[in-house]
Amino acid sequence: DNYLSRERTAFHFQPERNWMNDPNGPMFYRGYYHFFYQYNPDAAVWGNITWGHSVSTDLIHWQPLNLALVPDHWYDAEGVWSGSATVFPDGKPVILYTGSSNESVQLQNMAVPEDLSDPLLRKWVKVPQNPMLVPPPGIGYTDFRDPTTAWLESDGLWRISIGAKEGTTGVALVYKSSDFLDWSLQSNFLHEVAGTGMWECVDFYPVSLTDKNGLDTSKVQVNQLMKYVLKASLDNNKHDYYTLGTYSTDFKSFIPDDPTKDIGLGLRYDYGKFYASKTFYDPVQERRILWGWVNESDSELDDINKGWASVQTIPRTLVLDRQTGSNLLQWPIHELESLRGEKVVKQDLLLDGGAMVTVDGASGAQLDIEVIFKYPDVHNLDVLPEQKEYECSQGGAAQRGVLGPFGLLVLASDNLVEQTAVYFYLTCRPNGKWVTTVCSDQSRSSLAKGVDRTVYGTAINKPLTEDFLSLRVIVDHSIVETFVQQGRACITSRVYPTIAIDRDAHVLLFNNGSESITMQTLQVWQMSSA
Ligand code: FRU
Repeated sequence: DNYLSRERTAFHFQPERNWMNDPNGPMFYRGYYHFFYQYNPDAAVWGNITWGHSVSTDLIHWQPLNLALVPDHWYDAEGVWSGSATVFPDGKPVILYTGSSNESVQLQNMAVPEDLSDPLLRKWVKVPQNPMLVPPPGIGYTDFRDPTTAWLESDGLWRISIGAKEGTTGVALVYKSSDFLDWSLQSNFLHEVAGTGMWECVDFYPVSLTDKNGLDTSKVQVNQLMKYVLKASLDNNKHDYYTLGTYSTDFKSFIPDDPTKDIGLGLRYDYGKFYASKTFYDPVQERRILWGWVNESDSELDDINKGWASVQTIPRTLVLDRQTGSNLLQWPIHELESLRGEKVVKQDLLLDGGAMVTVDGASGAQLDIEVIFKYPDVHNLDVLPEQKEYECSQGGAAQRGVLGPFGLLVLASDNLVEQTAVYFYLTCRPNGKWVTTVCSDQSRSSLAKGVDRTVYGTAINKPLTEDFLSLRVIVDHSIVETFVQQGRACITSRVYPTIAIDRDAHVLLFNNGSESITMQTLQVWQMSSA
């Protein structure tokens, strides 16, 4: 019973065995949430890519079905790659996906359900018109992939976007169609950013400026009470960047609110391990839900030994942060809370400089943790030079500052030789402006060899009126998912403890700063398996 057998997750989506990558075609149809994913049915490494398929009524408990799409035509012989579902106004779903052809050319194809009366949509038929799209002039044969969910504009035409690159400029192409079969290329890009390279898995959708509900992608509503989100997964650095802006129905292009925060420069959905994500609109609960692929951080040999690789994040609801207006908020879907069991609560604990406090009764490898910290208004913060971001990797959690590092240790062994630290560190600019950084330190997460232990982190957008810092940390054996300030920033990491396993994995509160801080409320739930 090697430690690797303890690394499978208990309530994250993962297939029984073998390799998984991108989430594909999420949708709701006749009582079921459908989830497809890039899947190698033959091995725990990438290759022979098909579409795996599962259904659920709550996005937490999944029923696996047979493969939905496999490489069985010349136009997808090298793999059935990523794509999206569109649900028509009459309720019929279609899938658009990229086929890597017998000559490794990237082509866009369509599949439709064989039997619309089957709510599980078990059989999919590739249409005779395939391939529907070939790489246009100026775009390389292997730089044309991952069609989005389509949206319908007031001119009655459907539009989709496809990621590509021109030289080293990342671009989002737009195609339009009246019948979903005959598509023509729009002369201008939806958007482009020089130097960002290939844009994979583009996503494009509206978010409401006024309320908490999500908006349907397939409708371009003409009102001012929304913003658009454009997301691209950058092949160059394997990060998912998003940017907020407007969609000009006159120019058919996206205009970022803040060009200094464009794709590749500004916001990321997640500052840890998270890629090739995709959202969908849930018409039942009127919300937009984000799925993201979380790859392994162990070695390929470990994956082969485990017999599996990759998990998906807990699905997250996405809304505009109406407090800042300049970022999204992500939060685990409320259905996750149905797995919450035994709970430990601690209140008003002063954490002096150097404090390290074990949270009694909170041990375990399946946890949902929420904690709120308060900190004093001090005037001697560590100074961060102008123009420089604080690098979490500089000192990690072991650093000694004034206000922080303080936060949580999870998956910590008795002797603390294994521990994953999630923490805050507060600094200020020479002019006195505060900069709050959140970090996830994997450097001591595992005694195993060959594991990537990169320390992740980011500065967070924190209005001055907010006088607290909060974390929600979801621990599930080999994944730690962190949500900061109600979801304003997220960090996902993979960890492979060898001794901090199950009841030998502890939770601690720590403060490595010289100033005392207060832990106001801590709640730790044991989580059942899904
Ligand atoms: C992103 C990606 C997509 C492609 C798929 C192939 O991870 O490279 O661009 O369609 O994976 O599996």
